[in-house]
Amino acid sequence: MLTGKRILLIISGGIAAYKALDLIRRLRERGAGVTPVLTRAGEAFVTPLSVAAIAGEKCYRALFDLTDEAEMGHIELSRAADLVVVAPASADLIARMAAGQADDLASTLLLATDKKVLVAPSMNVRMWLHPATQRNIAVLRGDDVRFVGPDEGDMACGEYGPGRMAEPLEIVAAIEAMTGEGPLKGRHVLITSGPTQEPIDPVRYIANRSSGAQGAALARALRDLGARVTFVTGPAREPSPGGVDVVPVVTARDMLAAVQAALPADAAIFAAAVADWHVTNVSGSKMKKDGSGRPPALEFAENPDILAHVAGLKKDRPALVVGFAAETDDVEAHAAAKLVRKGCDWIVANDVSPATGIMGGGENAVTLISAAGAENWPRLPKDEVARRLAARVAAALRKPADAGAPGGDA
Ligand code: CTP
Repeated sequence: MLTGKRILLIISGGIAAYKALDLIRRLRERGAGVTPVLTRAGEAFVTPLSVAAIAGEKCYRALFDLTDEAEMGHIELSRAADLVVVAPASADLIARMAAGQADDLASTLLLATDKKVLVAPSMNVRMWLHPATQRNIAVLRGDDVRFVGPDEGDMACGEYGPGRMAEPLEIVAAIEAMTGEGPLKGRHVLITSGPTQEPIDPVRYIANRSSGAQGAALARALRDLGARVTFVTGPAREPSPGGVDVVPVVTARDMLAAVQAALPADAAIFAAAVADWHVTNVSGSKMKKDGSGRPPALEFAENPDILAHVAGLKKDRPALVVGFAAETDDVEAHAAAKLVRKGCDWIVANDVSPATGIMGGGENAVTLISAAGAENWPRLPKDEVARRLAARVAAALRKPADAGAPGGDA
């Protein structure tokens, strides 16, 4: 429920603007008040009259409307809400947001607000995939702007792909999460992510190709369902998401210590690509060639298995412990063996052979393995894999008895 919550809803131009009417209706059904703002481009798709009628409130339009200023200034308008939602958000408005422009009422409100902002992008697939748009999205993510969608599917322009605005109910779920009302409200989820680095000397280390993208996507998805997320991350290429407790670490041993310090948790997800060994004879100064042509002899010791350690805890074992298995061959068999060996509840297995482009890429094709069996998911963007997994985590925590069985509707 969203009883008593006030949503400032900015509707920009795009065919999906008609869905904003349904969104307003769904929000009001849940007890929220909606203050609508329609951009000039938005007016080409829905009329201010229909928006105002469905919202039961005045529809704000122009920046320099003296009547509005007398009633409520744009600064006040931007602050009076619990949350600012942009749905649909066009590529143009997203670009103006990223640039910090304030050249109409919508962009001015977005620049002036001190509230959280949720954006539901809607645009042609090529426009969404264009590096300029992706750059703008990354900038806004860095500013802690949240996103819901876009979904993948047939588009009004006849093309297929990501760009379609998220469905109104998906947007409502994201709003509930951001106003602290999601299904994981009050739950603590611990995530490990990224590679670890194991030093050799002060300037060299052993690491792996993990970008941290899947772990960061998971953190965002769980945060968006209302969870308090502790994100223990090695030195990853992917920036850590906003709105989560980030604990940066370097080595596997640091990661274990950070995980232990973050417990207890309701669920723990181990997405990190942890180095299996660390060097025991780390040199205090930069190793030099000694002229003999012989390489230095590095000595190794095994790193602690963080996942197995947490899964084996007697006290403070999270109700749900999820591991990842990055394999290059016999994915399902290796992953199923890992589930047993590590004592976790689920394993999310993926094939990271270079030909798949998964490690360091934007997509993932996973198999979810539990005591109940294996379930193959289609190849999906890492964000979508994260959303599906987060939904499963929420369902499992609702019914702890089912934690061993994936089931559900992903
Ligand atoms: N993991 C961990 N601590 C380690 C090694 C792995 O927490 N020291 C976790 C990973 O985060 C992942 C799972 O265990 O969730 C499996 O990691 P993976 O590297 O695939 O397995 P390993 O145990 O290293 O097995 P192997 O290298 O033999 O495949």
